Amino acid sequence: MTAAVRPRAMRGEQVRLRAFRREDLPRVIAWRRDDELRRGALWSDAPFGAREAQRWLRAVSNGADASRVTLAVERRADGRLVGLTNLTRIDRRAGTAYFGIVIGEKDCWGQGIASESLRLMLRRAAALRLRKVLLEVAADNPRAIELYRRAGFQTEGVLRRQLARPEGFVDVMVMAFFFA
Ligand SMILES: CC(C)(COP(=O)(O)OP(=O)(O)OC[C@H]1O[C@@H](n2cnc3c(N)ncnc32)[C@H](O)[C@@H]1OP(=O)(O)O)[C@@H](O)C(=O)NCCC(=O)NCCS
Repeated sequence: MTAAVRPRAMRGEQVRLRAFRREDLPRVIAWRRDDELRRGALWSDAPFGAREAQRWLRAVSNGADASRVTLAVERRADGRLVGLTNLTRIDRRAGTAYFGIVIGEKDCWGQGIASESLRLMLRRAAALRLRKVLLEVAADNPRAIELYRRAGFQTEGVLRRQLARPEGFVDVMVMAFFFA
């Protein structure tokens, strides 16, 4: 059996990544209900209320699931919860995982919070001895694509006309970062 991935905290210059707790749930619910965030994060529009949030918290906070690690992004200056980041589909044998990030507090965009969180999560991935981190990003999300390019991700392929948007079907890019 593969050892569980404990949601151990990590600290950067401006952010701290830590396990989620119950008090965080109202913000998580607000993020999950925000159209712009859902669109960027590729979240479904399935209902997400208190009950779903509790279930989600149990799944991400006890570290029992070896295939994912989900962490809260907290601003160090004031301890404010500003987002979430995760590695999912962790496959130790293949040495791969998928990265995800949402900075839910939009007034905190453009301050390098996602960049630093990504760097920390890549460090965690390296500690798990992964060799490749992948992600999926909508082609109409230039802010995220630029973030990933600057961190060293390259496009591996394109799922053409994959996403249904009100304005039509949009491509999804698969990007990857190799450690070696
Ligand atoms: C994408 C997201 C995580 C970025 O968070 P952030 O904290 O603002 O990111 P950073 O400040 O670290 O970096 C953003 C960078 O994007 C770039 N950028 C910003 N707006 C851009 C635009 N319209 N076009 C191209 N690049 C842009 C800039 O290079 C910026 O860095 P800089 O200002 O230091 O030069 C955040 O906007 C978010 O949570 N969006 C909704 C969810 C989402 O899309 N998640 C990604 C799923 S794949």
